[in-house]
Amino acid sequence: MKIHRFKSISSTNKKAYELATKGALTGEVVLANSQSAGRGRLGKKWQSPTGIGLYFSLIVRPDIAIEDYPKITMTTGLAIAKVLERISKKDIVLKWPNDIYISGRKCCGILAEASMLSEFSHKRFAIIGIGLNVLTEKRDLPDDIKSKATSLFIETGVRFDMGKLLLAICDEVIEHITMLEREGFKVILEEWQTKDILQDRWLEWVTNSGEVIAGKSEGPDENGQLLVRDGKGVLHEVLSGDITIIEDK
Ligand code: BTN
Repeated sequence: MKIHRFKSISSTNKKAYELATKGALTGEVVLANSQSAGRGRLGKKWQSPTGIGLYFSLIVRPDIAIEDYPKITMTTGLAIAKVLERISKKDIVLKWPNDIYISGRKCCGILAEASMLSEFSHKRFAIIGIGLNVLTEKRDLPDDIKSKATSLFIETGVRFDMGKLLLAICDEVIEHITMLEREGFKVILEEWQTKDILQDRWLEWVTNSGEVIAGKSEGPDENGQLLVRDGKGVLHEVLSGDITIIEDK
């Protein structure tokens, strides 16, 4: 596996995008000790302090239809959950579309970005950006996310080797992307659903037009969109957005 290593970089996703545009292959990885402008979903920042987290981007060129690209995020989440479950012996759950939780708190986020999908198919690619809190201690977490975030160390007391973790995650993600190519999304979705933190929970999300809607999750559908039934019984298909779990009604 080819790893492009950087001490510090603005964002591994940005760098991986540049390399992929110049022809980098499936399985090439951009890894950084720290990022000065780590990107999260929905324009948020991803805190990336040196030496306590894994920040990397995996380039993939999957043989899938354009409309299947959004499924890469959920496929990756499942793969990472399996690795973390294996090494931590804890239950790992998934929050649609891209968060990985351990003991009720987020330890990992995924930001998948695609090339221009109008490109010829042989030029298309996806960048799978992964941020995982590995050795983070409670005092390292910024105040505003202290109650919501965690790390493998906080939850297990074990200082996992970041190099080994990186390889295990990349292998598992590539294996699952191959599964998506060969067997389709159904098998991935079925397993993903067994780890769904939102299933049957009440939640709120902000639509792209800024409207706040509350409803009960009925889980992701076969296209990877989240189905939410509001208080009036209307079923919504959520494409993206910031989901907050609210008190169970
Ligand atoms: C999220 O939960 O909002 C997604 C966070 C993704 C962060 C990772 S860190 C490595 C890669 N490079 C980035 O700029 N972002 C992703």
